[in-house]
Amino acid sequence: MAKILTITNQKGGVGKTTTCVNLAASLAVTKKRVLLIDMDPQGNATMGSGVDKHTLEGSVYELLTDQASAVETRISNCPAGYDLIGSNGDLTAAEVELLQMPRREFRLKMALQPIIEEYEYVLIDNPPSLNLLTVNALAASSGVIIPMQCEYYALEGISALVGTINKINQRLNPELKIEGILRTMFDPRMSLTKDVSDHLLEYFGEKVYRTVIPRNVRLAEAPSHGLPALLYDKNSRGAVAYLALAGELIRRSRQAKNEVLQEA
Ligand SMILES: Nc1ncnc2c1ncn2[C@@H]1O[C@H](COP(=O)(O)OP(=O)(O)OP(=O)(O)O)[C@@H](O)[C@H]1O
Ligand SMILES: [Mg+2]
Repeated sequence: MAKILTITNQKGGVGKTTTCVNLAASLAVTKKRVLLIDMDPQGNATMGSGVDKHTLEGSVYELLTDQASAVETRISNCPAGYDLIGSNGDLTAAEVELLQMPRREFRLKMALQPIIEEYEYVLIDNPPSLNLLTVNALAASSGVIIPMQCEYYALEGISALVGTINKINQRLNPELKIEGILRTMFDPRMSLTKDVSDHLLEYFGEKVYRTVIPRNVRLAEAPSHGLPALLYDKNSRGAVAYLALAGELIRRSRQAKNEVLQEA
């Protein structure tokens, strides 16, 4: 069964897209069948996957507004090594159009049904906001990955996000849970980083991934080449960290499955 994970944080520039692209590439390289969905009109995950957002034949916009199917909009085996449903500025219009549509919170979930069983992992990148697009992503997902930069304002807004996740869990999607908190752009030389990191561990406990993503220039350079770090410089600290994260994610999924089996 596909594990559908939304990567979100309404704070901008915390590493959502970098995580989505590099985690997708790392899972794909371990031979998992992966689909990345770009729910952000900025189209950064699309470009970062090596696909030009300006020349998309189909996108998340057409998918959500019933103008094209998932099969028609997906790009198989994009240059980054996984399947992609891309997006661009057109998606801004979808937010308004969705308001008039029936089951507006479930458009993504319904649209994915025909292809979902083809994948082991579906990763959804989100804009830096909590809007109807994000609600669609959350309604379609089983888990949320929250990337956080360990800096002074990191915890601000996190209670709003946790509140939204709880609300969606109660009203729209009883399966939804926080999959993990990811510390990004980690710089252990800064004492503030450690303070914020300690707070996160205190508040979220086991939910915080052991893997931390270091600040690494290769991660910042790779998107301008339309590549994940793994294909741009596979020995870089950033690429290695995202591979480790993929490993941790897979191990955690296995553990959870075993616990369910033992309970049964
Ligand atoms: N670990 C890292 N080390 C160095 N640079 C990074 C790292 N992670 C992300 N960056 C850079 O920081 C910037 C913001 O990252 P990214 O685009 O992934 O954040 P985002 O949360 O998706 O932003 P937005 O909210 O605008 O969608 C980008 O220029 C990216 O290349
Ligand atoms: Mg982004």
